[in-house]
Amino acid sequence: MASQSQIYISILTLFLLINQTTSEQIENSESTETENENECEQRWIYIRKLPPRFNLDLLSNCSEYTFVDDLCPFLANHGLGQKTHNRSHSWYRTDPSMLELIFHRRMLEYPCLTEDPNTADAIYLPYYAGFDALRYFYGPDYNSSEEHGVQLFHFLQNENPSIWNRHSGHDHFLVMARPAWDFSQPLDTDPHLWGTSFLELPYFFNVTALTLEARAWPWQEHAVPYPTSFHPPNLALLDSWIQRVRRSKRSSLALFAGGGGFSATPNIRRSIRIECENSTENVNSFGYEKLCDTVDCSNGVCEHDPIRFMKPMMGSNFCLQPPGDTPTRRSTFDAILAGCIPVFFEDLSAKFQYSWHLPENEFDGFSVTIPKEDVVFRGLKILDVLERIPRARVRRMREKVLELIPRVVYRKHNSSPGLRTKKDAFDLTIDGTLDKIRFRLQEPDLVM
Ligand SMILES: *[C@@H]1O[C@H](CO)[C@@H](O)[C@H](O)[C@H]1NC(C)=O
Ligand SMILES: *[C@@H]1O[C@H](CO)[C@@H](O)[C@H](O)[C@H]1NC(C)=O
Ligand SMILES: *[C@@H]1O[C@H](CO)[C@@H](O)[C@H](O)[C@H]1NC(C)=O
Ligand SMILES: *[C@@H]1O[C@H](CO)[C@@H](O)[C@H](O)[C@H]1NC(C)=O
Ligand SMILES: *[C@@H]1O[C@H](CO)[C@@H](O)[C@H](O)[C@H]1NC(C)=O
Repeated sequence: MASQSQIYISILTLFLLINQTTSEQIENSESTETENENECEQRWIYIRKLPPRFNLDLLSNCSEYTFVDDLCPFLANHGLGQKTHNRSHSWYRTDPSMLELIFHRRMLEYPCLTEDPNTADAIYLPYYAGFDALRYFYGPDYNSSEEHGVQLFHFLQNENPSIWNRHSGHDHFLVMARPAWDFSQPLDTDPHLWGTSFLELPYFFNVTALTLEARAWPWQEHAVPYPTSFHPPNLALLDSWIQRVRRSKRSSLALFAGGGGFSATPNIRRSIRIECENSTENVNSFGYEKLCDTVDCSNGVCEHDPIRFMKPMMGSNFCLQPPGDTPTRRSTFDAILAGCIPVFFEDLSAKFQYSWHLPENEFDGFSVTIPKEDVVFRGLKILDVLERIPRARVRRMREKVLELIPRVVYRKHNSSPGLRTKKDAFDLTIDGTLDKIRFRLQEPDLVM
């Protein structure tokens, strides 16, 4: 477990950075003024200054969320979590809900920060929405989940209201490191079902929310990749990982890493479990040692332990990505990182979600989609479909998957200049957000 002092040091460093970076950044940008002016045209971002109760205080209380697991260990290394081994440079026990913190830390080194909100093209709200939501999900504020966000809105209205009013919030964005469902409880629902109503409050209709999963018809939110455990600090470590993945021997056709599938009613996870269990081993007509491998991730045992699933994923050609409690799963990104071609069973699992990171028009080039209805109700066998894909095509698909790796990785903060030349998940999120906001400001009637 992370020692308490380690955590406080982590929070304190962040606090110091928050109060320092902008002025340093401004000095830097003065020295390279002309260079930045081109690079930063239409890309200036202002970080809204929020009282600590909206971010850092929520972290200092990490051990007090007694209704969930101790969150403190995951705060280490500015939200990357603790290293998997003390000699590891790139691998951490990262919890995806820490994206709010990881993103904030990366914003502090964004090259086009401005201290003048009037010249900014976008306004970032460093509010840890998912953290703050815990008290409504499980804690004392369960019965007032419609209040989530109200205090933030009041702050934005009362403190320098001109920042909000300049574009009625259309230029504001924030990260909510959970599926949007968790924040979409309709107002005035009785009885209370699940989640908070943050995204249902008219106050925030104009704000762009970056979530780990968007709803079927999103217009406020856009989905961004779940953070994996891999956060390389330099280009050499990224490249050597990709080389290792490319050379990896793939002795199984397909892999499912996850839990569940034991319900009696027909569903895709159940179909996968039965098909995998029944697949005969040592079938050599295709040269595989196994047709279907599984990693049992029941009870969350895989969540902070990438070793459990990364090795099997690197030993498999295809990784099955059925919907879980919600359509998306983090393991989609673990699979890409392992060079394992993802197999989806519905478009909401990725195609309609991560368009900034996984290009929609190339989707069939790096993934396989098998409609779940065909499997569950029409007896289509997943392994048959995968076996019939020619080896040469599998190789081409894998090359496409390898090209995606830099796009879905959140590199380590303070990384080498070489690595910064490659756009990572954060950089692509910023590009997408700036485009989306530009579009909203030009065509407000289209989005309202
Ligand atoms: C942090 O914990 C203290 C003590 O339990 C509590 O009074 C305070 O409201 C908490 N702060 C936040 C932001 O949750
Ligand atoms: C590595 O970490 C372990 C605990 O996880 C610790 O006991 C050990 O001293 C560390 N080794 C080094 C060389 O830092
Ligand atoms: C929420 O309201 C229900 C019904 O009134 C009550 O039973 C429950 O204790 C309340 N929960 C909290 C955390 O106050
Ligand atoms: C959202 O934008 C519309 C105009 O596009 C504006 O009328 C409305 O007041 C804005 N909402 C808030 C809460 O500022
Ligand atoms: C597949 O496994 C299930 C139970 O897991 C069993 O009921 C069924 O008979 C098996 N089917 C075949 C074809 O082996």
